[in-house]
Amino acid sequence: MSLTQEENDTLTRVGPGTPAGEMLRRYWQPAALIEELPTGGAPLPIRLLGEDLVLFRDEQGYPGLLGIHCSHRGADLSYGRVEDGGLRCIYHGWLYDIAGRCLEQPGEPPGSSFHKRVRQRAYPCREAGGMILAYMGPDEPPLVPAYEFLTVADEQRYNSKIFQECNYLQANEGNLDPVHVPFLHRIYARHNGPPPSPAPQRVDITFDVEMTDWGVRLTRMDHPEPGVSHARFTNFVFPNFSAIPAGSNDGYTVNWHVPIDDEHHWKYVTVFRRDGPVDPEAVRRNRADLTDGYRLRRNRGNRYGQDREEMRTKTLLGIGTDFQDHDALATEGEGAIQDRTQEHLASSDRAVVMIRHQLMQAIRQVQSGGEAPHVVRDPAANHFPSLVVFGTTLPESADWRQHMREVIAASERGEDPASVGADSGEGMHPMPNPSGRVWK
Ligand code: FES
Ligand SMILES: [Fe+2]
Repeated sequence: MSLTQEENDTLTRVGPGTPAGEMLRRYWQPAALIEELPTGGAPLPIRLLGEDLVLFRDEQGYPGLLGIHCSHRGADLSYGRVEDGGLRCIYHGWLYDIAGRCLEQPGEPPGSSFHKRVRQRAYPCREAGGMILAYMGPDEPPLVPAYEFLTVADEQRYNSKIFQECNYLQANEGNLDPVHVPFLHRIYARHNGPPPSPAPQRVDITFDVEMTDWGVRLTRMDHPEPGVSHARFTNFVFPNFSAIPAGSNDGYTVNWHVPIDDEHHWKYVTVFRRDGPVDPEAVRRNRADLTDGYRLRRNRGNRYGQDREEMRTKTLLGIGTDFQDHDALATEGEGAIQDRTQEHLASSDRAVVMIRHQLMQAIRQVQSGGEAPHVVRDPAANHFPSLVVFGTTLPESADWRQHMREVIAASERGEDPASVGADSGEGMHPMPNPSGRVWK
């Protein structure tokens, strides 16, 4: 069941010309948070899919993404001047617009047309969902998918991003790994009573996985307390993010794992609400402590501050209560690129297997000249009613599979999934959020 080295390389290498890299380039990817590139701000050096690039806003405020090395003799354009309709290299003054056209070459004789034959590498950008998205693939860019989290008003969303010292795929796989949630993330105080000793109790979870045209849907059921079932969907969405229920069904959380290169990625995290503003302070209070550079304060360098006394008394993992820290420790610990030739997949890894299968199929489709799956070009198809992010508590006697099927059907009919079973008298109610804590 483990992968061959070749399969692992195929799924994890992201640079130009690599199979996964070419597939990932068929989709809009976050290049930065909008807060990183204010109007009038400095150009931003970034690394994305193994390419060194500079992101900047021209004087009109339009974002542009260029290769970082000037086409003349390679100076770093992130030190350049924003002026005269583009970004001017500080070495000899060549000027580039956001499309990569070379507008001026001050050292060339008057009347020279050499500048017209020079083209700086340039990728189109769009602003959506508090992020600057870039399209690094060939041909015409597809539509920006109209996911709810990209289209709600800015005040209904909170974005952050977190530097991750590992390949994008293993972190993405972790999002659809149902067993790790009650284990890795266990906080004893929230689980009624003292810590089990010496090892935690069995992890009692039932789940189904299914392929969809946008990715993989995991439907899981567990038992937060006797007599109660807790059912929810967790979704992997092509090609590299997951949509996970938040503390209530008024919105959800997105973990978008964007490759910096083969061994690092940014985890863009979006929390949004459908029905009202998000209180950024409340979200921040429940979030891992980040440095100004979007790095976790608990990280590999300080062994995440793991505390053995805390492991005995408060949390399973001993690094505090934030899920972001927990997930970073687990996924970075798998190695810069997890060696999947050495793993032993278990029955609980069915969604992980399905994600890899889906990605491999997408890679082959792109390699054979086809369109990647879930690339949206038709405005009429730019909505995703079967992509449902939802959780609910049900009585033990309820048929949770049937209930969740009805939830999807309701969403596909354009109805509110929370209305399913509301008048059935069965005591179904949306997922409670007793701690007020935002789930990750
Ligand atoms: S290296 Fe950029 S203008 Fe010469
Ligand atoms: Fe997790």
